Amino acid sequence: MRIPDETITEIIERTDIGDYISRYVPLKRAGSVLSGSCPFHSERTPSFTVFPNTKSYYCFGCGAGGNIIGFAMAINGLDYVEALRLLAKETGVPIPESSEEKSFGIKKARIYEANKEAARFFHQSLMGEKGKSALNYLTNRGLTLTTIKRFGIGYAPDSWSALYDLLKSKGFTDEEVDVAFLCKKGKNGKMYDIFRNRIAFPLISTTGEVLGFSARRLNENDDRKYVNTSDTPVFKKSKFVFALNMAKAHSATELIMCEGCVDAIALHQAGFDGAVATLGTAITPEQSRTLAKYTKKIYLCYDSDTAGQTAAEKGIKLLAQLGISSKVVKVTNAKDPDEYIKKYGAESFRKLLQGANGEIDFLISKTVGNLDISISENKLKAVSDVCELLASLDTLAEREIYSERAAKMLGVSKDAITEGIRRRRKNLERKGKKEFDKKEMLRTMGAGDKVNKDKLSMPGEALLEEKLLGILMIQPELYKFAEGRINESIFFTEFGKKVFSVFKNDFESGTEPIISNESLTAEETSSIARMIAVRQSHGDNTKEAVLKLTEALEDKKRKSDADKAISDADEDSRGEALKNYIDSIKKNKK
Ligand code: GTP
Ligand code: MN
Repeated sequence: MRIPDETITEIIERTDIGDYISRYVPLKRAGSVLSGSCPFHSERTPSFTVFPNTKSYYCFGCGAGGNIIGFAMAINGLDYVEALRLLAKETGVPIPESSEEKSFGIKKARIYEANKEAARFFHQSLMGEKGKSALNYLTNRGLTLTTIKRFGIGYAPDSWSALYDLLKSKGFTDEEVDVAFLCKKGKNGKMYDIFRNRIAFPLISTTGEVLGFSARRLNENDDRKYVNTSDTPVFKKSKFVFALNMAKAHSATELIMCEGCVDAIALHQAGFDGAVATLGTAITPEQSRTLAKYTKKIYLCYDSDTAGQTAAEKGIKLLAQLGISSKVVKVTNAKDPDEYIKKYGAESFRKLLQGANGEIDFLISKTVGNLDISISENKLKAVSDVCELLASLDTLAEREIYSERAAKMLGVSKDAITEGIRRRRKNLERKGKKEFDKKEMLRTMGAGDKVNKDKLSMPGEALLEEKLLGILMIQPELYKFAEGRINESIFFTEFGKKVFSVFKNDFESGTEPIISNESLTAEETSSIARMIAVRQSHGDNTKEAVLKLTEALEDKKRKSDADKAISDADEDSRGEALKNYIDSIKKNKK
């Protein structure tokens, strides 16, 4: 029998791996991990480690590793399904008798319908008797009735099934409301509403469909401030831009990007038709592509904290790649635009927009700080820092645009900047080569690996694969940043290919992979647990690292393809093959 993934995930979620393993092995906390003596081999110094973060364990001594299911299997000598049943009983997660697979056959139109009904219901609730305190909350925050209506803001009542009952009576099936992320099946088998006692902001597409909700708590004691619709067949958080429908309706040409939907709403109310928002995240590549369809100019208006400023920096670079110029608005003496407008008014906010720094100014001031560049030493340093910064930009187009502006700002010739960038890029290349040599050294030290047999013949490639896979196992949501470049073909070893194909779906949807599963042997799972363990202590599990590793694998692939072409070629065409390879490298460097 196949146990549904949701059930497995829930079992993993509900089991505290540290508590569970402590029943068998005394564990001591060491920073963010727990460690003890390995129950699977005898040892004197403890090398058995539990990682609560990734809900996994790994023994650096004997190489055993996995998740809670793997542990239950190994320690009790059970097979996969038996272990799951045991854990299910302990955690009280029901295993459905005949597991109907969640249907992807559900028509999108039904989800749109269900969402529309929900939005209508929430709005009516807000305007009705039960919505009084919610409405009070909104008006106290300064929103007018007109705004509330324009944005279709609603109230999800404090009830476990008000929405479910309504949708049921309108003929929606349990499956439909579940897939739409409106209701969920509870432990007792009953369906319950996901949004309860919350303000519900409908998320509306540029074509007017309700895609989902962003729902804010009313009770400050609720754990989660916002509950947002998670990805459904009609909604993808990383693609969605809040209030873009409004901006589009007003033909706003300059957009103002905020962090939260309340900010966007407050700005619209104050007369800023171009206000939009992401749902609390930095701009994603998908969002920037959507934005590029509507505008060539964006004000980035993030919270004044460091997270906000980092998000701004990332946004600038993403947008620049698509030819959108951005300005960073500095919201001072207020947490966010909503608060700012309330304290200082719309006129004052307009001044903030006017005084906003262009992207290059923002980046320069972030790099150079508050140095006075009329002093020549400071100016030299500024030029040097700025070249360093610009040299790191990926495309020639970006480097060109920014060089020109940087030259003007710093009062130097463009050639000076271009030359500075060229020198630095050359250095970067040289550094890259050194790293390659280090990996070559590892190649000669490469020991046999039972699971990954190809590791001996290609240790460098195997190491890159392991790093990349390890990061993706910890942070699957980084996969999308490689924009389709990570696929089976960039992996060299059979094992690398296999691991990728087993977890591909998780990477694509950004869901946490289940490392002990039926497609992998215990040894294979242990190897994956090791990749995770190694990356956990490394820390550099970033988008940049993913891109760098992808690039390194692509480079190696290009080289090995060329090697093959060159050695396959006869005497006469060998020169040609070599030239093709060099051209391909050149093209790629551009
Ligand atoms: P107010 O506090 O009501 O003014 O909202 P805000 O928009 O200022 O909220 P904040 O800056 O804290 O968050 C910005 C956005 O991040 C929100 O619109 C949400 O989409 C998202 N967000 C905030 N808290 C949570 C949370 O607990 N869970 C999730 N999933 N998203 C959140
Ligand atoms: Mn706010």
